[in-house]
Amino acid sequence: MKVSEIIEKLNTTHTAARGELIFLLENITDDEREMLRKAAQRTAREVFGKKIYIRGLIEISSVCKNDCLYCGLRRSNQNAVRYRLSAEQILSSCDLGYLLGFRTFVLQGGEDGFFTDGVMCGIVREIKRRYPDCAITLSLGERGEESFKKLREAGADRYLLRHETADPAHYAKLHPANLTAQERQRQLFALKEIGFQTGAGFMVGSPYQTVENLADDLLFIERLRPQMCGIGPFIPHKDTEFRDKPQGSLELTLTLLSVLRLMNPHILLPATTALGTIHPKGREMGILHGANVVMPNLSPKEHRKDYSLYDNKICTGDEAAECIRCLAARMRSIGYEIVTDRGDYK
Ligand code: 5AD
Ligand code: FES
Repeated sequence: MKVSEIIEKLNTTHTAARGELIFLLENITDDEREMLRKAAQRTAREVFGKKIYIRGLIEISSVCKNDCLYCGLRRSNQNAVRYRLSAEQILSSCDLGYLLGFRTFVLQGGEDGFFTDGVMCGIVREIKRRYPDCAITLSLGERGEESFKKLREAGADRYLLRHETADPAHYAKLHPANLTAQERQRQLFALKEIGFQTGAGFMVGSPYQTVENLADDLLFIERLRPQMCGIGPFIPHKDTEFRDKPQGSLELTLTLLSVLRLMNPHILLPATTALGTIHPKGREMGILHGANVVMPNLSPKEHRKDYSLYDNKICTGDEAAECIRCLAARMRSIGYEIVTDRGDYK
């Protein structure tokens, strides 16, 4: 089979066999990449038009009990500056965000024991009380089914929990032994079952990753059928043992965005901050390859630099208003427009 035939198959049937995905990822030429990109962009345009959904990202805590080998916020990183936002700080970020046109707030943080179910449910209820027309997305790691149920009942709409890599052996090379791919995936299926619009996702070019791993990530997404999928390049962080590992490739990340779009025409697919970090036009390229979401940073400026997952993260010195203005201009420059909308999965 030729790569062009696999692209055509993805375009028409929204699926491909594992061997075909591997063959495509290993053999795609620049011309074929452009053909893939065009098909993915066309698909996104058919579903979303020229509209780009925005999510206000509020990084609520840099405290984490986990020790993921790739992450700058890992517990054993003594150099990380730890902070947590107060409920008041989170709520005032939402107040500002609402004025700026956000109708989704993403509360993301490390696995920080301070944010118990009681504390989180209180914050979720208060945001919903103030802004019943907004969606709340949580991204707080593996909290377990009981916690997920309480958060859902409190009013949270969506939950992001990247699967990171679908392959258990690869997962074990990126995480300490107490974290497993099996448990991660179990929690993702639980989130869906509980009624969250659920987001999975993976890093591209993480250490020890193979093309087979990426094919399995695509097939995991096909099996889970999440409403959202976040992918971005792996970027080394200087205070982790992966400091000397190579960064994930721009081209490969863009190729995977396009394949994801063709396999999942309706999926909410962000052009991530990590993509914007490895190339000055990374997020624009992401949109042109089939992404349809951007997530400007809404966190209080004084803490931004301390939510350091990887080196050289962008948007750490800007005010929320500047960030959204900047992204609006970037989207306009490629013929798209950001919209004031919850941007639910349809
Ligand atoms: N490079 C790229 N992405 C990273 N993440 C964590 N550390 C890194 C890194 N060094 C991603 C993980 C996590 C999300 C919040 O950020 O995929 O799920
Ligand atoms: Fe944050 Fe451009 S999006 S500064």
